[in-house]
Amino acid sequence: MRILLLGSGGREHALSWKMAQSEHCAQLFIAPGNAGTKRCGANVDLDIKDFKAVHSFCEQEQIEMIVVGPEEPLVLGVQDYFKNNTDIKVVGPNAEAAQLEGSKAYAKEFMFRHKIPTAGYKEFKADTLQEGVDFIATINGPVVLKADGIAAGKGVVILEDTAAAQAELTAMLQGKFGAASKRVIIEEFLDGIEFSVFAITDGKDYQLLPIAKDYKRIGEGDKGLNTGGMGAVSPVPFVNDELMQKVVDRIVEPTIQGIHKENLDYKGFVFFGLIRVGNDPYVIEYNCRMGDPETEVVIPRLKSDLVPILSSLFDGSLSSQQVDFHSDVATTVMMVSGGYPEAYEKGKVISNTDQIEKTLPFFAGAQENERGEIVTSGGRVLALTSLANSMDEALALSYQNADKVMFDKKHYRKDIGFDL
Ligand code: AMP
Ligand code: GLY
Repeated sequence: MRILLLGSGGREHALSWKMAQSEHCAQLFIAPGNAGTKRCGANVDLDIKDFKAVHSFCEQEQIEMIVVGPEEPLVLGVQDYFKNNTDIKVVGPNAEAAQLEGSKAYAKEFMFRHKIPTAGYKEFKADTLQEGVDFIATINGPVVLKADGIAAGKGVVILEDTAAAQAELTAMLQGKFGAASKRVIIEEFLDGIEFSVFAITDGKDYQLLPIAKDYKRIGEGDKGLNTGGMGAVSPVPFVNDELMQKVVDRIVEPTIQGIHKENLDYKGFVFFGLIRVGNDPYVIEYNCRMGDPETEVVIPRLKSDLVPILSSLFDGSLSSQQVDFHSDVATTVMMVSGGYPEAYEKGKVISNTDQIEKTLPFFAGAQENERGEIVTSGGRVLALTSLANSMDEALALSYQNADKVMFDKKHYRKDIGFDL
């Protein structure tokens, strides 16, 4: 099969690393890709939001399947475009189903319709701003404000102070995040520990992938600004069989059944962002794609070939696919540019990657320059994934290698897994 993968992060390096090992993958292209994906297939310089340009490349290269890494092309309708214009299979939901990630209000309404446990909420728009301000005055404890749309990962604000929360609601409804905050959700605060569950679905059947936990804050001890993710582990020790059964019965099954009942065109990954409160799981959010850096621990634990699993989404054979995992623990530590998630410099030469041992380097914001050097090109630069019998052993390997890899102002969190 001739495959095109869209995206350019550590997630896409991990997915391309896995697919390139498949005997069913005749040729792999990655658009636009990075220094890591280039080692797994051919990078193609395409704007992945320009579906016409992607289409003509697909015709030229006789692409049979497109795997979509990030959410943006999905929310913009990449699946719809190719379904309407071609026979190419697209792994990912159509634009309507991608609203499960693209609109918090849509996701909340879906969860309430299907009785899926999630925080209580109210929705406000510019014409109900005053009601929102009054509502915040009645809340005891932290106020969770969420812009409805995708706001580059910055759309969720949690504030303890009533006046600050009222000011934030006002700013959001007055356009702080543009169209993304025309509608704002105010949610009940859930106090617990988060974890992520991944499934692959054809809109009717599903298979679970390994569970994971990511570390979103820049600072040790989960302090400081939110990032795209500073590290991850899989599996998650506190998610025992009992909790996982509740996740399946109360969340995964009703979600997939809901997708089926509502006739949503969904052939792709479902990312359940969950929180354990007491002994019960609740949904914090859905994403319509794999997580990053969760993919960098989930995919290396997948023993089975990924390509037949993805193809099976289109012929009704998903439930008969072998989806086996390695029992090893996987950890990943994200090396980032100094200053990230605020301003940082790019173009720093990354050295000593040839000395990486017993660890898989998954490149993110890293590109090869004209001289063949790998240089930084983003905030998150390189995820170092290790597999071992225990989390401590895997982390030790990831950290030994993080010590060796060098680039100016390199930074990484030293406490991944600290809370487990
Ligand atoms: P989201 O973009 O919905 O994943 O929210 C970003 C982060 O905000 C989550 O990973 C949680 O850490 C936090 N968060 C979101 N909703 C809630 C909630 N209802 N209660 C507590 N924390 C939340
Ligand atoms: N690591 C969180 C995400 O991919 O959204």
